[in-house]
Amino acid sequence: MERRTIGAAALSVGAVGLGCMPMSWAYSGSRQRGEESLRAVDRALDLGSTLLDTADMYGPFTNELLLGRVLKERRADAFVSTKVGLLAGEQHIVANGRPGYVKRACDASLRRLQTDVIDLYQLHRADPEVPVEETWGAMAELVGAGKVRALGLCAVGVRGGRRTGAGLYDTTIRQLRRVQQVFPVGAVQAELSVWSPEALRTLLPWCTARGVGFLAAMPLGNGFLTGTLTPGEGFEPDDMRARHPRFTAEMMAANQPIVAGLRRIAARHGESVTPGQVALAWVLAQGRHVVPVPGAKQERWVSENAGAADLRLTAEDLAEVAALPAARGSWD
Ligand SMILES: NC(=O)c1ccc[n+]([C@@H]2O[C@H](COP(=O)([O-])OP(=O)(O)OC[C@H]3O[C@@H](n4cnc5c(N)ncnc54)[C@H](OP(=O)(O)O)[C@@H]3O)[C@@H](O)[C@H]2O)c1
Repeated sequence: MERRTIGAAALSVGAVGLGCMPMSWAYSGSRQRGEESLRAVDRALDLGSTLLDTADMYGPFTNELLLGRVLKERRADAFVSTKVGLLAGEQHIVANGRPGYVKRACDASLRRLQTDVIDLYQLHRADPEVPVEETWGAMAELVGAGKVRALGLCAVGVRGGRRTGAGLYDTTIRQLRRVQQVFPVGAVQAELSVWSPEALRTLLPWCTARGVGFLAAMPLGNGFLTGTLTPGEGFEPDDMRARHPRFTAEMMAANQPIVAGLRRIAARHGESVTPGQVALAWVLAQGRHVVPVPGAKQERWVSENAGAADLRLTAEDLAEVAALPAARGSWD
């Protein structure tokens, strides 16, 4: 698989990564099967999808434990990307960016992941009670201690209220400017997909101008852009899409023209090319420092997603994506 580099440290990863969240978190618990997920991770590494994106919060903790079982045998094949700073309770999520906590959390992640170094350690959310420089300073000390190779900042969950459109990433960019004064940002992780392209306006250009890597979260629109979901079929109550405004039966039906457009483009590239692969190839086309991390827990999806690294969209394809209708269904 094509390789891409992340940040000033020029860490090398396969162009398409693997988001490990659906194996343990946010998607229907009844469909999560440890052994199947382990095979999916192995398959990703076999195919060169080296970047494994996880977080201590996924599970909580079980996703890192799962990856640890693979990393114990195959650490050299993988690029480990995990996160700190969010704690999950039964019904709520709370940020913790206190320096002492960050250092303890890192040691715990290293133990669960069965490794002695994390390649990319990301701040999952800034803690409103702690100046972000203090949290970032603690993370930088972990680099100094050899426990972490590079630092990243996540900017997911920024929707809602008046923070939409052009201003969606204003707060993130202010945070990035502040933490850059303390220690270089290796990568930013934010939502970027055909139906959520907002990061292209300000956040991705900010990264591009500074040689900062970009991890595209939710590049498949939480599965919608693959065209495999049927409007009205519903989601289990523990699946985040049961509460997601774009996943009501009405909005899924209203957004079908987006999938139809991806299908049209896929058909031009061959019978076996899928809308999901076009969605990933579109993300890959946004810059040589952009790495999509499609979430998947099945081997067949992992293989299909890795195949997107070989798909080159033409200028005509990209123009067609740009002309697709904007997604309907809003958090506001
Ligand atoms: N930093 C943050 O706060 C944050 C927030 C959200 C996500 N993320 C990261 O971004 C990653 C990706 O986001 P995501 O997993 O929520 O959304 P996504 O990648 O847009 O979509 C994942 C969904 O698509 C399905 N899928 C994957 N490949 C498919 C294929 N080829 N055909 C049909 N369906 C396919 C998966 O099904 P199965 O589950 O059945 O395999 C899963 O339901 C996460 O895993 C996580 O690492 C980070």
